[in-house]
Order: sequence, then C-alpha cells, then structure tokens
Amino acid sequence: MKKVYVKTFGCQMNVYDSVRMLDLLKNLGYEETLILDDADMVIFNTCHIREKASEKIFSELGKYKELKLDRKKQNKSFVIIVAGCVVQAESEEFLNRAKFVDIAIGPQSYHRLPQMLFELQKKNKKRIIDVEFPAVPKFDSLPETKSRGVSSFLAIQEGCDRFCSYCVVPYTRGAEYSRLRDDIMREAYQLAESGTKELVLLGQNVNTWCEKDASGKIKKNLADLIEDLSQIDEIKRIRYVTSYPSDFSVDLMNMHKNNKKVMPYLHLPIQSGSDAILKAMNRKYTVSQYEDIILNLREKCPDIALSSDFIVGFPGETETDFDKTLSLVKRVEYAQSYSFMYSPRPGTPAAVLANQIPEKIKGERLEILQKLLLEQHSNFNKKFVGQCVEVLVEEKAKKKSELLGHSPHMQNVVVSADPKYIGSFISVKIVSAGATTLVGKLENNF
Ligand code: SAH
Ligand code: SF4
Ligand code: F3S
Repeated sequence: MKKVYVKTFGCQMNVYDSVRMLDLLKNLGYEETLILDDADMVIFNTCHIREKASEKIFSELGKYKELKLDRKKQNKSFVIIVAGCVVQAESEEFLNRAKFVDIAIGPQSYHRLPQMLFELQKKNKKRIIDVEFPAVPKFDSLPETKSRGVSSFLAIQEGCDRFCSYCVVPYTRGAEYSRLRDDIMREAYQLAESGTKELVLLGQNVNTWCEKDASGKIKKNLADLIEDLSQIDEIKRIRYVTSYPSDFSVDLMNMHKNNKKVMPYLHLPIQSGSDAILKAMNRKYTVSQYEDIILNLREKCPDIALSSDFIVGFPGETETDFDKTLSLVKRVEYAQSYSFMYSPRPGTPAAVLANQIPEKIKGERLEILQKLLLEQHSNFNKKFVGQCVEVLVEEKAKKKSELLGHSPHMQNVVVSADPKYIGSFISVKIVSAGATTLVGKLENNF
C-alpha cells in the first residue's frame, strides 16, 4: 500500500477536510502514516486566519522539498499536495514561491483529488491547481466515511456571509451553504455504526444551517436537525461550533434545556467588549444584546459553560475600548476562551485602516486579557474538585498509563486507567484542576 502523511493547520473544519481527503485516498489504495519519512505523498492542509499561521507554512514546506529532492536522487517519487485556505487566498503568489508543489487545491475542490492524481501520474502533467468554487458542492462527491475515534467532526454548513472586517473566511470558504438533512443523517449513521459516540457539528456560521422548501421557506433549522440526530441511539453527545451571537436563536436555547444529548457548553465568540469596535469589525450585535443572550441562556441552563474568541488591538482600539473588553469578561465569566492579537489580513477591509495598533501594545493587551481569562478558566475548573464527572475517554494521554477524555462541559480530563476504557464513558472523581485540565480517579464505568 502507498502511504500518505497528512499535516493539518487551522480550525476543526480543516481537520474534517483532511479526514475526508484521506477517505478519498483510501479508495485509491493509500493508507495514512504518521511518519513523514515513510510517506509517498504528503497532504499539507493550510490555514490563513492570522499572519503567524501563514508564516509557519514555508518552514513546513521546506521539509517536504528536501524529502522530494532525496527521493528524486533515489529515482523515487514524492507527491506534494497543498490544500486549504492559504491556497485559496493566495494561489498565485504562493505557488510562485513553492514551485515544487505538485497539486494545489482549495477547500471547495478537494473532492477532485482522485482525478487530479490521475492526471498528474497518467497524463504526466507537471502540476495541477484547482481553486474553483464548483457549482456541484463537494459534499455530493465525497465517499462514505468512518469514525476515527469516539468523537467525530461532521461538517453541516460551510462558508460565511458575515464579512467581519478582519476575517479571510468569507473569501477562502465562500458563501454560506447548508448540506441537506438526509446527507447529514446518512453520514451520522455511518459514523455511529463505526464507533462514534459524540458528534461535533461544524460550520463557519453553524447557526445558519437550514433546509428550505421549494418556495424558500425554512423547513428545518439547526435545532430541528440536532433533534433528529439525537434520535440515533449510539450518539450520546452532541456539540456544535461556531455560533454567531445574533444568529443564536431561542430554539437553540430551548434545545440546550430540553435535549439531554446536547452538551452544556457553548462557544459564542464576542471578539470585543466595546460597541464601537464591534461596529468597526462589522459584527452585527451590541455588547448588551450579547449579554442578554447569555442571561437568557443561563436562566434556562444554569450550568452551561461559556467560551468565546477575542481579538485585541483591532485598528482604533483605545485603552477605554480594551477596558470594556476586560469588564465584559469579568461580568460574563468564561469557562474557556481563545484570544488573539489582531493580524491584518491582505484583502480584508480592516487591513487598510489607518489607525493600526503597534505590536507592542497588542502584546501587552493580550497578556492582560489572557491572565484574566486563565484565572476564570481555573476558577471554573476548580469548582469540580471533589465531584464525579462523566468522561468520554478518547485516547491515551501524554503520560503513559493515563487516559484523556472530555467532560460534558468540554474540560480535558486526565485519569489513570486501563486503555480498555478508550471509547467508553467512565465516572471520574476530580482530585485537582488547573486552567486547562482536570485530573481525576476512576470511579466506575457505565
Ligand atoms: N467562524 C468563527 C471563527 C472564525 S476564525 C466565528 O465567526 O466566530 C476563529 C477566530 O479567529 C475568530 O473568532 C477571531 O477571534 C479570530 N480571527 C479571525 N481573523 C482574525 C484576524 N485577522 N486577526 C486576529 N484574529 C482573527
Ligand atoms: Fe469570519 Fe466573521 Fe464569518 Fe466568523 S462570522 S467566519 S469571524 S467573517
Ligand atoms: Fe483557517 Fe480556513 Fe479554518 S483560514 S481557521 S483553516 S476556515
């Protein structure tokens, strides 16, 4: 069997795409290897969201180039495929810098991979580039999939029409698109049959998922879809990311309250606690609207864990704006979060604004914000010390003899236990907790 090595940067959608590319290659007789030196082919799935992510790409590509040259000396081939959002955003410039790349595919055209490989090998083409947004969505041409663990991603929606002024996603992933309910159900059953117990539904703006009738009226929304998915017996837990505050509906709130398979965790990014900055970001809600959603949600589901993304140092962000973000964080109290320095992205409106913030100030603000958030994560986790939590064990932890899984609130839980528990639900008594991980003892299995 030929071997393929896959390296993925970026969000969960990119992880899902890598899995689907592997599904395509399996049908062509490839198997995955985790050792680059053993590979006949590499797929490098890239992310364009922040400058740092893009910088890492060329150092990674350097490794593949070396390997290709080595193989050439031995008269062997090594196929380099680059996929993902960098290819979509910068195909020409990128490929000029990376002439040794054999195939470059955007996120909407990777289903054509088998055909491209055929052309590369049989028709002796030098290199192939495909960054089209095809009329027939790629999901229709993807093969069956199998679970690769107990928790599986399932893309239900892709693309974004929001155009936040800092963000590349609408340009790299295209317009919002919802997969059909029946296709999603079919994929969910395939995953459930092959061992998935937790589904993580993915979409860049997942709340917009819907199915419409012939007249354009919405037949089913995200809450209806989740209700349908929760009827699959083997699926015990359901999560979904990423929600957009003004698209987060009352139906979804009620679903959190009524559907026990929907986990008590919500990632609802606010980005900034200042209305002026939210406006400049083209985020279509105010801080008080966001807080109203949180208040209503907490009324219905008092134990829900909240998470958010934050950007500091957006152009024009004053000390007062930044203080408003800190105050908002203090009022909400987050169980988890992701925070970033604003990174100007080519082609986005915010990148050409005059009042850019110096890197040093961005760095200082990020440090202050992250200190506060880490304290909150730690406080949230410490509440669980002494309690028993239900953990879905997913894999071996870094330390031998320990296993890693997640609690319903999406906390990492480490426990010393026999690897036979991988894939099962166990009850863990928490003995200590930090900002990122809970450590516990096995109580019993279910
Ligand atoms: N679709 C999701 C997330 C998209 S990207 C959403 O709308 O929330 C994930 C996060 O990266 C964003 O929430 C934002 O906080 C951050 N991000 C996106 N573009 C960025 C940029 N140019 N600079 C810094 N952070 C950025
Ligand atoms: Fe980017 Fe905004 Fe769309 Fe999220 S909602 S993907 S941040 S444009
Ligand atoms: Fe990155 Fe593209 Fe995801 S830019 S965050 S891989 S949608």
